[in-house]
Parts: sequence; structure tokens; C-alpha cells
Amino acid sequence: MILASEPEELRNLLDEARRRGDTVGLHPTMGALHGGHEANIAKMAAECDTAAVTIFVNPLQFGPGEDFSSYPRDLEADLSRAERAGAGIVFAPSREAMYPEEPLVSVAVRKLADGLEGRRRPGHFDGVATVVTKLLALAGPCYAYFGEKDYQQLVIVRRLVKDLSLPAVVVACPTVRETDGLALSSRNAYLSPELRRAAPALYCALLAGKRAIDERAEREADPVREEMRAVLLREELVEPDYAEVTDPCTLEPLGKISGEVRLLVAARLGRARLIDNLSAGAGEG
Ligand code: PAJ
Repeated sequence: MILASEPEELRNLLDEARRRGDTVGLHPTMGALHGGHEANIAKMAAECDTAAVTIFVNPLQFGPGEDFSSYPRDLEADLSRAERAGAGIVFAPSREAMYPEEPLVSVAVRKLADGLEGRRRPGHFDGVATVVTKLLALAGPCYAYFGEKDYQQLVIVRRLVKDLSLPAVVVACPTVRETDGLALSSRNAYLSPELRRAAPALYCALLAGKRAIDERAEREADPVREEMRAVLLREELVEPDYAEVTDPCTLEPLGKISGEVRLLVAARLGRARLIDNLSAGAGEG
């Protein structure tokens, strides 16, 4: 596995790979790699000839009171996880290598960033869109792997690639969960044992919403929202933020349910803010 830390190195390595006739995969991450990232890397390595992982804790996507400085960083552990999962290249630039000067140009996301995470985290998705544009510009034509775990991010990245004609094909990766349903996340490291026991409430809420739609044929969105919120509230340590029923493409909140919808929840558990989501109403369960 090759470790690159300069943007030009990544560009040259992937240009070379394409000249050899390789298909190129790219999986952008912020490190603190877990089983979810590993599954995404393994999928990419199985589907692409050259599999590159990027590791960069992007300051542009963190708000003032957020966890940029305390975000878990462990490059040695990340490198062995990435290699074990099948990565051929890891790009782990310093902040100075990515932003040698104060960035004066950024990518702004409209509408898709107005609700859900975007509403609670102003500027977050502009920061994500800006760094993803930069990474895709460095990588060149590639398959770009993004997790469904961050569903609003996935929808925004798909639209970013389309609107700016970036030479990437976005590949969605299914959410990897613990056996009790908790979605793997780098921020799960913030949970005390007590909070960890309460954390599957997010997935339970989503399952309750999905059952209401798929099994009881509920066609009004409000009772589904209420049911998901009620499941979150059953756990004393969980402070619910939102429990939403949206259109899977536009992320607009729905009144009536017909066809596929996306259920999304967010909650605070101690200092951790967790998010999760699930498809419902798609017909095949
Ligand atoms: P990060 O949180 O490290 O996530 C990197 C990728 O892994 C994202 O596409 C995310 O959706 C995916 N992922 C996270 N948890 C997952 C799980 N349990 N199962 C499957 N995939 C999972 O998302 C970011 O970093 C950043 O915003 C980034 C896109 C790198 C831009 O800075």
C-alpha cells in the first residue's frame, strides 16, 4: 500500500493507474476508520482495480462549538485497517497541504442543505461539498464511494457531481451496524457504557417507522414521525433532535406517503450527536 501526503502525489498515482487501464475507486474519509469504512473499502477494492482511501479531518465542515479538535485521529491504526480492507493507496494530507492559503472560494449547497443536519449545522454541507470537490478534482475520473449512513451527504454529493459535471460516478454503500442495530460511527467512541446501551434507540425508532409504513400501511407522515419520536423518548438518556419522513431524492418533508420514503433520525447522547436513516415504502421491504 502506498501512502501519499501531497495532493500532486495522489493526482500522479491515479493518472498513472488510469494510463495502465485501471478503473479507479476513491473513498473519502476523516479517518478513525471502523468496520463501516472497512466494508466500503472492501467493496471498492472488489469493484475497482486501484482503490484509494483519503483521510483528512476537514476543518471547513466543523462549526465553532463542534468537535474538530477532539475528533479521533490515529493514522497508524487507520493505515493498517485500510490495508487490511484492500486499499492500494492512502492519501493523508496535512491541513497545510490541502489549504496552503486561506480558502477564498467554496462550493455552496442550496435547498438540499436547508433541513435536517444542514439546519442544525450551518455551513457544514458547504464545507463537505468544497472538500469533496477538491478531492474529486485531485483524483480525476473515478468511482466515488459514499455511505448511506450519512444520507443527506450522499444526496448532496450526487447532486454536486451532477451540477458541477465532476468526472465521478457516485457509488452508495449500505450502512454497517453493530449486532444491536447501532450504526457504526467514529463518534460512537464518545459514548459511555451507559449511553452505548441506550444508543440502539435510533435504529429501533427507524424500524418502528418502517413497520408503520410497510406493515400497517400508514399513509400519513405525521403519525410515523410521532411514533419514531416516542421510541426515542423511551430511552431517558436519549435527547431526540429530529425524526423525519422525507422524499428520498429531494429530502423535502412529506405530508402523505406514497412510494419510497427516507426516514431520518438524530439525537444527542451525552456529548455525542448521532444520526441514522432507513428506507421505507419501497415495496420490497
Ligand atoms: P466519515 O465520517 O469518515 O465517513 C466517510 C464515509 O464512510 C462516508 O461516506 C460515510 O457515509 C461512510 N460511513 C460512515 N459510517 C458508516 C457505516 N456505519 N456504514 C457504512 N458507511 C459508513 O463523511 C465523512 O467522513 C466526511 O464528511 C467526508 C465525506 C470524508 C468529507 O470530509
